[in-house]
Amino acid sequence: MIVSHRAAAVVFFCIVAVILTIQSLRLHGVSTIRHAGSQFDSEASSDVLNTTLGFQKIFVINLPERTDRRDAMTLAAALTNLQVTWAKGVSGTDVPDKVVPGEDWEKSILRGNKGSWRAHMNVLNTIVNQNLTSALILEDDADWDIRLKSQLQIFARAAQLFTHPDSRISTPTDLNKVTNIPVSSIPSPSKQPFSSPYGTNWDVLWLGHCGTNFPTPSIVLTTHSNTSLLRVTVSNDPTVPSPQHLKAHPFALQDQLAELYPPHTRVVHPSSGTICTQAYAVSQQGARKLLWRFGVKEALTKGWDLVLGEWCDGLFVDVRDKGKGGEMRGGRTGQGPVCVTVQPPLFSHHFGRGAASDITAPGGGFVNREKEMTPYVRWSVRMNMGRLVEGGEVRDQWPDDE
Ligand SMILES: *[C@@H]1O[C@H](CO)[C@@H](O)[C@H](O)[C@H]1NC(C)=O
Ligand SMILES: *[C@@H]1O[C@H](CO)[C@@H](O)[C@H](O)[C@H]1NC(C)=O
Ligand SMILES: *[C@@H]1O[C@H](CO)[C@@H](O)[C@H](O)[C@H]1NC(C)=O
Repeated sequence: MIVSHRAAAVVFFCIVAVILTIQSLRLHGVSTIRHAGSQFDSEASSDVLNTTLGFQKIFVINLPERTDRRDAMTLAAALTNLQVTWAKGVSGTDVPDKVVPGEDWEKSILRGNKGSWRAHMNVLNTIVNQNLTSALILEDDADWDIRLKSQLQIFARAAQLFTHPDSRISTPTDLNKVTNIPVSSIPSPSKQPFSSPYGTNWDVLWLGHCGTNFPTPSIVLTTHSNTSLLRVTVSNDPTVPSPQHLKAHPFALQDQLAELYPPHTRVVHPSSGTICTQAYAVSQQGARKLLWRFGVKEALTKGWDLVLGEWCDGLFVDVRDKGKGGEMRGGRTGQGPVCVTVQPPLFSHHFGRGAASDITAPGGGFVNREKEMTPYVRWSVRMNMGRLVEGGEVRDQWPDDE
C-alpha cells in the first residue's frame, strides 16, 4: 500500500510539474525555463543567466539596410530577455584597399568577405577600446533555443576544464588518448572574481558555427594546447536533436557526433577546423590578439570565419624559423590560442524562406530554400516567434520521432 501511495504521489507531482511548466511558459514568457534534464543548477554560474549571458555585452552585426533582420533579431532577443548592442555591418565597396593590412592580400576575395572582415574588426575594435572583459558577437541571422540560458550554464561549467588554469580535474597522463569527462564531474565554478563566468583564460568561445571537428592526436601534436584531446560530455540533454537531425547539410557524409556518442549528447571541446561565425565570444585578451593579428598585421586571404578557424587551430602562432604554410605549425614560441567550441552548436543559422546570406550560404548553398528552419536548434526562437508573441505552445522543430 505504501508503495502504491508513493507511486501515486510521484505521478501526481509529475503532473503538477508539467502543468506548472506549461503555465510558466504561457504566463511568464520563456526565459525562466530550465532543462528538464538539467544535471545541476549552479548558483555560481548564475551570471550566465543575465541579459548579456555572462558576457559584458552582446553585439549583433547588421547591415543598416537589412531592417528585416534587425526586426527579427530585436524580437528574438526581447523574447528571451537578452540585451543586444547593434554593430553596423560594412559593405565591401566601402572598404578601400589601402586599409587592408599586409602586402599580398587576395584582391579577388569576395567583396562580401571584405565587408564582413571589416565589420568583425570594428566590433573587436570597440571591445578593445571600451576595455570590455568579454563580449558575444552574433550575426543577425543567428537563432537559438529558448532554453539558451540553462544551456550556457552547463557550457560554462564544461568550458572551465579548458579555461581555468587551476582546474581541479586530474588530467590523464596519456595525452595522446581521447578522454571524455562528464560535465557533472567538473567542480562548479568557484565564487572567485573571475574575469568571466566562463573561466579565466580563454580567447574565443565558439558557440555558433556550421561545422567543427574533434581534435585528432596528430593535430594536437603539431599545434595547440595539451588539453586538446579532452572532451566534456553532457549526456541526456533534451535540447540536442536525435542523430537523424544532426547532419549539417544534405551532402554531409557523416556526423561524428552522432557516430561517436549516444543520442542527445552534447560535447564541449577545443576548436578544430571550425567554420562560420554565427556566434562567438571573445575575451579582452582574445579581442586584442585578433585585432592585432588581423586588423594590423596579417593580410586578408579568405573569409573571416575561415581565418578565425585557422587562428584557433594555432596556424598563426609565431614561430622561431620564419617558415610559411606547413612549417608554421612547428616550433612555436608563444602560447597557442584557447578556443573552445561545442557540438551541436548553441547558436545556428536561421534559414528563412527563400532567404540567402549577404555573403554566401553556409553548406555551400545546398540548403533547401523552400523550407524555413534552423539546424540543430529544437525550441527555436525564430521558428516559434509568432507563437511566442501572440500566444500558443512552443513547438519542437526536430522531434525525435520524425
Ligand atoms: C552579466 O554578467 C557579466 C559577468 O559577470 C557582466 O560583466 C555583465 O555586466 C552582466 N550584464 C549585465 C547586463 O548586468
Ligand atoms: C582595463 O581593464 C582591466 C581589468 O579589467 C584594468 O586593469 C585596466 O586598468 C583597464 N584599462 C583601461 C584603459 O581602462
Ligand atoms: C600543459 O603543459 C604545461 C607545461 O608543459 C603543464 O604545466 C600543464 O600541467 C599541462 N596541462 C595539462 C592539462 O596537462
